[in-house]
Amino acid sequence: MLPSVPSLPGSVDPAWLPPEVFRPLGSRRTLIRGAGPLVDTVHAEVADACSRFGGRVARDARELGGPGDLVLELGEGGAPDGLGDEGFVLARADGVTRVGAAGQAGLLYGLFHLVRLGEAAFRGERARETHRPALGSRMLDHWDNVAVHPVMGQVERGYSGGSLFWRDGLARGSRDDLERVRWYGRLLAACGVNAVAVNNVNVHEAEAHLLTDRVGEVAAIAEALRPYGIRTHLSVSFAAPVVLGGLATADPLEGAVADWWAEATRRVYAAIPDFGGYVVKADSEGQPGPFAYGRGHADGANMLAAALAPYGGTVHWRAFVYNHRQDWRDRTTDRARAAFDHFAPLDGEFAPHVVLQVKHGPMDFQVREPVSPVIGAMPNTRLAVEIQATQEYTGQQRHVCWLGPMWSEALSFRPTGEEGPSVGELARGGGLVAVSNAGDDPFWTGHPLAQANLYAVGRLAWQPDADPGAVLDEWIELSFVPGRTADPARLREGLRAVLDGSWRTYEKYTAPLGVGFMVQPGHHYGPSVDGYEYSPWGTYHFADRDGVGVDRSRATGTGFAGQYPTPWAEVYESPETCPDELLLFFHHVPYGHVLHSGDTVIQHIYDTHFEGVAEVEEARRVWAGLADLMGAARHARVAERYEEQLRGAREWRDHINTYFFRKSGVPDARGRRIH
Ligand code: GCU
Repeated sequence: MLPSVPSLPGSVDPAWLPPEVFRPLGSRRTLIRGAGPLVDTVHAEVADACSRFGGRVARDARELGGPGDLVLELGEGGAPDGLGDEGFVLARADGVTRVGAAGQAGLLYGLFHLVRLGEAAFRGERARETHRPALGSRMLDHWDNVAVHPVMGQVERGYSGGSLFWRDGLARGSRDDLERVRWYGRLLAACGVNAVAVNNVNVHEAEAHLLTDRVGEVAAIAEALRPYGIRTHLSVSFAAPVVLGGLATADPLEGAVADWWAEATRRVYAAIPDFGGYVVKADSEGQPGPFAYGRGHADGANMLAAALAPYGGTVHWRAFVYNHRQDWRDRTTDRARAAFDHFAPLDGEFAPHVVLQVKHGPMDFQVREPVSPVIGAMPNTRLAVEIQATQEYTGQQRHVCWLGPMWSEALSFRPTGEEGPSVGELARGGGLVAVSNAGDDPFWTGHPLAQANLYAVGRLAWQPDADPGAVLDEWIELSFVPGRTADPARLREGLRAVLDGSWRTYEKYTAPLGVGFMVQPGHHYGPSVDGYEYSPWGTYHFADRDGVGVDRSRATGTGFAGQYPTPWAEVYESPETCPDELLLFFHHVPYGHVLHSGDTVIQHIYDTHFEGVAEVEEARRVWAGLADLMGAARHARVAERYEEQLRGAREWRDHINTYFFRKSGVPDARGRRIH
């Protein structure tokens, strides 16, 4: 029997898979060749589309009475070698479109590629094209708690309602809940994601048990995601042998500890045969780790990898390690340096089943950071780059902030200069991981336009050098189907207008020139310039009456700039060559310092904050003019969020401008009102 295509209640937004996008496929005659569970998923998808739009699908050509319009074919004849399990070929000749794949997942991705192409897939001739993912692992980390955490709630840094997977301390088990999880898997497959970690990296007490006595709940989620080619991963506590196993130690070099993990892992695979592996936040922000036993990160990670290796699993070991109990008076400690100081010396020491998961920037998902120097410094380690789709520091899904351009900039950065590999290339061994922004909100992501970020995670992981504008256009075509509205051009232009520059707009009205962290402590929403200035978290801006910024040069500062290879070490070392947008990340400069743009730092701060607010006002106006071109609920949700964004942008502007006016005493050259 074929699996059914998941169904979604009418109250939930279909995101980038509204029924309409299946019309070109569903109105044609399709032949499917090959066998297996994912081929059955493909068949079910085509059959569902045909039931809506009048086409036909068969596994045997004779049933179609002719060659048909589309052949989706697994294995022989259709696919050349070297495609891998996930690649596919596409061609069109003599009125027939053909997709061939060597592996079942490839056929599924080929199907969703056709959905993206729409009618274009069935027009004219098409020379044979080969598609395969640049990164083998394309993963979402859910920072979801099983039990509602007293401070962090159900989803740590979640802005989209509750968890898709957990409710009231248990895995969601109702039919509707699991249908929603299946739908989520379908959305993820359609953008190219192939792995999900189902619980928070901060593993609290209840969540620790998912590894052992509660693994059945994880297995149920894995079963719902499997038909869409998604492997399930679990965040585990390094202290599990102690807290779950009753051992006296979790020392990674103790035989009993390794045995405990081997046995626990064996049981996990008995429940979930295609289990992906463990995600571990160790010795980071209070989570347990190998340091307690005088061991290092490689000792810890390799021990877990040994447990997973027999089954082909992977341990994603996070590099987000720093001193979160820093004394703000201590000017020699620099949080930005920490990941490199801890991990770069360990290059080559990690086992093959370890992936080191590195945040794209050295601090923590600020609106502007340089690329982490760790990424260029570990050629003998499998690296995954971690990005944050959930908008913890970029407006918490109340503000529009299309992150495709930011991620794309990071992925195309070349740590050793123009001749060297890009970050996207350096991530080939480990992949791209994003902290998910999805929850049980009817729009999945709270802000409907934040769906574009979720979509881009998969597409940029598939092709890190993709043009983010093209990814955005794809998302617009799928999600809004402009071609079927009264005014396609106005809708397309309007959506591009409000999304394209929204990251830079957000940057303009918040923390300037790469300085970061001027947020309210704890929840991180809204401005508080000195909120973290005298805290233990290592996130300071050092503003005084004369200037602002962190001196991270080798010559006079913390030396962080020296963690980069040439040419970046030199570029970042001097304020003369440091790019404007990162100036305050790397240097402490006087307010009168003249930027490459020709403006002084203080005038830049004033100007960008006024501009940022004006840009939000304009985006809100453009959005209001699109009301007749989309569903009322989607339009209204965004319109409502624009009110909050504008309020928030004005608040940011006034805090930042007033703060720096009071510190510096320098008036705005253009005489605008500063409070
Ligand atoms: C940030 C975030 C935390 C999270 C941490 C991490 O600091 O605020 O909620 O746990 O990153 O990535 O581990």
